[in-house]
Amino acid sequence: MIVNHISQIVKNYKEDNLHREFNELVKVQSKPEKVLINNQEVINFCSNDYLRLSVNENILQTMLEGVKQYGVGSGGTRNISGTTKAHVELEKKIATLHKMQSALVFSSAYNANVGALSALGKNIPNIAFFSDEQNHASIIHGINFSKAQKFIYKHSDFNHLEKLLKENTNFLPVIVCESIYSMSGTKTDLVKLSEIAQKYKALTYVDEVHAVGLYGNASGIAEEQGASVDIINGTFGKAFGCVGGYIASTAEICEFVKSFASPFIFSTSLPPAICLACIAAIEEAKNPSLQKKFWGNVVYLKHTLQKYNINIFETDSHIISVPIPTVHKVKDIAKELLNNYQLYVQPIFYPTVPLAEEMLRLTVSPYHTNEQIESLAKALGLLLN
Ligand SMILES: Cc1ncc(COP(=O)(O)O)c(C=O)c1O
Repeated sequence: MIVNHISQIVKNYKEDNLHREFNELVKVQSKPEKVLINNQEVINFCSNDYLRLSVNENILQTMLEGVKQYGVGSGGTRNISGTTKAHVELEKKIATLHKMQSALVFSSAYNANVGALSALGKNIPNIAFFSDEQNHASIIHGINFSKAQKFIYKHSDFNHLEKLLKENTNFLPVIVCESIYSMSGTKTDLVKLSEIAQKYKALTYVDEVHAVGLYGNASGIAEEQGASVDIINGTFGKAFGCVGGYIASTAEICEFVKSFASPFIFSTSLPPAICLACIAAIEEAKNPSLQKKFWGNVVYLKHTLQKYNINIFETDSHIISVPIPTVHKVKDIAKELLNNYQLYVQPIFYPTVPLAEEMLRLTVSPYHTNEQIESLAKALGLLLN
């Protein structure tokens, strides 16, 4: 019986301590760096709402006006009654942000990756994906869903990428990577990647989900590095504090994806009020004083962790990862931080990262104070050293 299998799998999973326990958060709009968990105020050091735009007053007002004008839901797929003026305006805004001809909005960046990559893979004969081994699940799912040929190169190893491209010149290549890897925080050299792509006449597809809103005047790493890529994938769910995802590219590529990406065609479109909030969020993210405070806190957290001898992955990005293998240990440390120090950091373990690569992934916001940051580093120092 299927239910017996399910019971056994759940039991094994729990015995291995790999089950997920979610903390139920209540947000405190007046204190964006905090949340309530079990009615207790704790400092949130793991949100991807990096700039806390989810509680930005201007964005909230824009969204409320949008709800009054358009109602709650869009009422349809993009194809059937679900394309509003707000969707079209948002797509224009994204295209301008990335200096691209066009953009397509999906209900999430996960769906944008699955939709765009599978559309390419299914419909272009002889296509092959050359994909970084640490790419996000949504990229892997899009490529696998398409059933197209794929070659996996070692993480950010361009020699290996070139070797695979050289050995497989009979395919039409697409190179797929992330501009910032979400767990380790490492950045990709997109200028070098574009040079390789040009040499092998490859299309470049770059997931900028953790970079948009924070780098290159909110546009991402391609803009910051001055690199030219063919397709950018981004989200409104992280630094922009809203929800939704997109691709930005040439008018022709967007036209193609629009017709062939199932998640775009066969799923209800984003609520129009969210689209208006996303437009406002793109502008709010560019606020220089917000950016300055955010980056100041990133530097301060790195510096303070060093002071307390906490080992982190060395990167020049905003993602600060503290490796803490095993799953038991990382869960225990996270529980201690929450229960004894009122500091919230969600433990990261399999399948989000491979076994033995468990970690605490720390993030700050523009609103954390030096004292709060110091309290985290000090607590980690006590628990880990
Ligand atoms: C690298 C990467 N790509 C895509 C996604 C999906 O983004 P969204 O939350 O908008 O679906 C995520 C989300 O965690 C991610 O980390």
